[in-house]
Amino acid sequence: MTQTYCRRAVHSLTKSTIHLSNPFRPQQGRLFNTKRSHQSNWNNKSCIPFFIDPFTTNSIIMSPTVLHLRSETKPLEHRSALTPTTAKKLIEAGYVVNVERSPERIFDDAEFEAIGATLVPEGSWVDAPKEHIIVGLKELLEEKFPLKHVHVQFAHCYKQQGGWENVLARFPRGGGTLLDLEFLVDERGRRVAAFGFHAGFAGAALALEAWAWQLNNTTPFPGVSSYPNEDALVADVKAALNKGAEKAGRMPRVIVIGALGRCGSGAVAALRKAGVPEENILKWDMEETKPGGPFKEITDSDIFINCIYLSSKVPHFVNLESMNNNPDRKLSVVCDVSADTTNPLNPVPIYTVATTFDSPTVKVDGLKSEPACSVISIDHLPSLLPREASEAFSHDLLPSLLTLNDWQNSPVWARAKKLFDEKVATLPPSALEG
Ligand SMILES: NC(=O)c1ccc[n+]([C@@H]2O[C@H](COP(=O)([O-])OP(=O)(O)OC[C@H]3O[C@@H](n4cnc5c(N)ncnc54)[C@H](O)[C@@H]3O)[C@@H](O)[C@H]2O)c1
Repeated sequence: MTQTYCRRAVHSLTKSTIHLSNPFRPQQGRLFNTKRSHQSNWNNKSCIPFFIDPFTTNSIIMSPTVLHLRSETKPLEHRSALTPTTAKKLIEAGYVVNVERSPERIFDDAEFEAIGATLVPEGSWVDAPKEHIIVGLKELLEEKFPLKHVHVQFAHCYKQQGGWENVLARFPRGGGTLLDLEFLVDERGRRVAAFGFHAGFAGAALALEAWAWQLNNTTPFPGVSSYPNEDALVADVKAALNKGAEKAGRMPRVIVIGALGRCGSGAVAALRKAGVPEENILKWDMEETKPGGPFKEITDSDIFINCIYLSSKVPHFVNLESMNNNPDRKLSVVCDVSADTTNPLNPVPIYTVATTFDSPTVKVDGLKSEPACSVISIDHLPSLLPREASEAFSHDLLPSLLTLNDWQNSPVWARAKKLFDEKVATLPPSALEG
């Protein structure tokens, strides 16, 4: 079989370089047993590879890979795995990007249309051709029908979470594949894209607002909703912080643990942007917690922001006893960005529930002295800043997205597929029966 390039086809079809879908897959009903996919530039003009069938001498132009961006169905999820910026880059690289219209997404449908994406109806991924790759962010609705596509998303079913068998089994039952974004790692095992920075940023912003609110009010810190952009959030936090500082007669002292990580650096950035003086920000990581907690430095601070990645048992950072044992306790707000709320190893065992944007704080029970203390344990903090969080995440994911045309041969996706196969192998046979 001969591969060649057709200049005329290029001009009539596209100005972009076309990435082939996996050439081992049947294309237009044929199995092309060629070596690898190609991305070629010919005389500085983009070209579409096509193949001459030696038996019929027909030339067949390979179809570009189609990415189908789902409309998220999780309530109040405004973030998006693709943004107009990254969708444009994918289209320029030869992908077709279909974008479901979405009432919740922070980016208007028109922003995607303007960069050349094709708008398609909400929920239309279900009936999309099998070879389209479905890109989303969060869980699918809890339904039962088998999944036939390749799905790129966070599925939250690899750690034996409640109902994991039903979520995962839908893929093998339909011949589909899950490429889970939470486990997409580079050759050194580092995640290629994560929302941590904006989780920490949002957590620190809410913690400052809650601190100021509690100084000036007796009612719990009220519900919040997502911001159109970071500037709007920072302006609100600055105003709140000034009110709090006026009442307290000083700026708060804040301790961030896990300060060198993604969430931690986001938290520190928010504190700085809000105007907390540098000397009031304690930035702790592994080195500082080596002696083992509980730590008096936490109860001596007004605000504690926990941003660690919990991978093994560590002594409590703070607990009820350490709070009650410090007669000069100042701690009145904890933001547990790590949110290992129900994990028995949670090093911040002073609360038991996950809080929400509607009701962001939960009171710490059992304190013997003032001030009262509340905890923020929201597990979807980046949704407070959906635009910036999506842009940062999608930007980091883009190099991997650009290899989706040949994902089986792309190390990052091949690793995700291997993990998928391993997890599927752990499914009880009953789950596969549907
Ligand atoms: N609440 C949310 O909405 C939300 C969003 C994203 C991530 N998270 C969670 O936040 C956590 C952190 O994520 P990340 O992306 O920032 O991880 P990361 O790996 O980038 O950073 C973790 C940091 O914690 C430090 N650390 C680990 N154990 C420590 C210890 N015992 N003492 C001091 N420092 C310690 C590490 O050295 C590292 O600097 C994860 O559990 C993640 O699931 C929560």
